[in-house]
Amino acid sequence: MSGAIRFSVSLSEELLEKYDRLLDEKGYSNRSEGIRDLIRDFLVQQEIEGDEEVVGVVTLVYDHHVRELTEKLIELQHKSKAVVISSMHVHLDHHNCLEVIVARGKGIVLRQFADILIGTRGVKHGKFVITTTGSQLPR
Ligand code: NI
Repeated sequence: MSGAIRFSVSLSEELLEKYDRLLDEKGYSNRSEGIRDLIRDFLVQQEIEGDEEVVGVVTLVYDHHVRELTEKLIELQHKSKAVVISSMHVHLDHHNCLEVIVARGKGIVLRQFADILIGTRGVKHGKFVITTTGSQLPR
């Protein structure tokens, strides 16, 4: 890496051993690579928790036979301060539907949006992933 600055880090032997073991498991070739990823993740996390607009993906699996559930999930999406960019619906089997919802907004707004959808009665499984373009991050 050209223009990279070296600095030293003090760690306990125990912590360093655990770090090295994890780097090995994850296939990192050196400690610096691992530290760079950690710092980037730390910065992304800060971007997500701040006022920047970020992107979130919510996946929901639910039984569409549960009374008024489909309508309720649609209503929640229309009412939210999160801006739904796109959603995809897959009829998995006779009972189950998968919905993938991509939304934009502040991190806190997206998290609340996801929590409400996932916590809706009748939703069997839900996951929320939040990310950013990382435009604020140096390489
Ligand atoms: Ni369906």
